Amino acid sequence: MAPGHLAPGLWKHPDQQPQTLNHWVQLAKFLDEAGFHGIFFADVLGIYDIYGGNGPALKSGAQIPIQDVSLFISALAYNTKNLSFGITASTTYESPYALARKFSTLDQLSNGRIGWNIVTSYLESAAKSNGQEKLVEHDERYRMAHEFMEVVYKLLEGSWQDGAVEANRETGVYSNPAKVKKIHHVGKYYKCAGPNLVGPSPQRTPFLLQAGASKTGQDFAATHAEAMFLPGMVPAKTREIVQNMKNLLVKKGRSRDSVKFIAGIFICVDETDEKAQAKFQDLMQYADLDGTASLFGGWSGTDLSAFSDDEDFSFTGPPAIQSMISAWTRTVPGTEGVKWTKRHILQQLAISGAHPRAIGSPETVANIMETWIDEAMVDGFNISYATTPGTFQDVVKFLWPELRRREVLAESRVERQSMRSSFLQDGGGSLAREGHPATFYR
Ligand SMILES: Cc1cc2nc3c(=O)[nH]c(=O)nc-3n(C[C@H](O)[C@H](O)[C@H](O)COP(=O)(O)O)c2cc1C
Repeated sequence: MAPGHLAPGLWKHPDQQPQTLNHWVQLAKFLDEAGFHGIFFADVLGIYDIYGGNGPALKSGAQIPIQDVSLFISALAYNTKNLSFGITASTTYESPYALARKFSTLDQLSNGRIGWNIVTSYLESAAKSNGQEKLVEHDERYRMAHEFMEVVYKLLEGSWQDGAVEANRETGVYSNPAKVKKIHHVGKYYKCAGPNLVGPSPQRTPFLLQAGASKTGQDFAATHAEAMFLPGMVPAKTREIVQNMKNLLVKKGRSRDSVKFIAGIFICVDETDEKAQAKFQDLMQYADLDGTASLFGGWSGTDLSAFSDDEDFSFTGPPAIQSMISAWTRTVPGTEGVKWTKRHILQQLAISGAHPRAIGSPETVANIMETWIDEAMVDGFNISYATTPGTFQDVVKFLWPELRRREVLAESRVERQSMRSSFLQDGGGSLAREGHPATFYR
């Protein structure tokens, strides 16, 4: 919901429409008709201010201004049939009681097409604007998140029984008190009496997305996630994470296949490789590298303004940043022997962030995607954009026919499914599956 999510500066491109409500409605309709499973909205609750204060983020539109997507969802859901909506919400700053109400409401009005990307939030600036002196320590944020989830499950799965809402004109009973229970949660971080303010929605617990990359984060994802966003530039390295996650799932008493793995990817596609490369060069002219540096500051905690444009980070710089940058640069394909200067680092991150780029003809892009499916064992992709609707129009126009020709993209889908049924494709309905912690509180 910001002018530049992973591509600061691209709002200047002629193909970028102003992000009005009408823009989002038209985009959602377009994606729905094209057969996308969902649209994912990332979110942050603070400004990226580590690199040069607020200036670079504000000037470039790097994830600010950022609107509250939940207020757009009713319009998007009303205008679409099958598209699901992944909404990011933070366990560090929200109240579980208010969040349960919000997600129940959204799930009801979208007929079960709501997902929650559970994040613990990483920006210090968000902490300082949410009543805290400093950011809560990383693993402590995950401990809070576990208890947060417990409260949410109790509210969504346990406080209203099926059939509690009778709305019976004869008996005069709207909701049956015998079927609506308090939850009496008293924990280390949260107290909540309940019940939830809203009755059961089609999925009860929204479909749960997560992207924990650290050891603690992966443990959290193995406990709660039903789909997981994966980091990684190289399929073989991402495969290690997928395999590790599958083993972790079994340790948690969940099935190896209970989580769908989704790789981030940026796609720039045209009729031929040459045309796609030319299109990418055109997009890059609009990239704002200061905006990219401000995003990098927030993701890594490192302020690149202390370094000159042409310093080679493979050999100089403080050890912490050197090891971080070299760990990442080793995984960027096709850059052997390249000097990793600040400018080069930012050019690699501009437009796509730390996601792989698939640039080329439909055949080239489809080959890259198939490599990710085969070698990294991912189930699907989260396609990031340079411009909206430009990137997605290209994907549908050029790539879809090639994927259909290869029979990896279905011609049509079953209508009106919940997000959970549409993503899991296991015939198991809209509610959380057995073995998932949400079911422990029914
Ligand atoms: C595709 C993807 C999307 C993400 N979206 C968000 C987001 O919208 N908001 C946010 O605060 N963090 C987001 N993150 C960051 C993760 O929540 C997480 O903090 C990060 O992957 C680091 O993992 P760790 O916290 O376990 O170290 C995202 C990560 C990925 C890979």
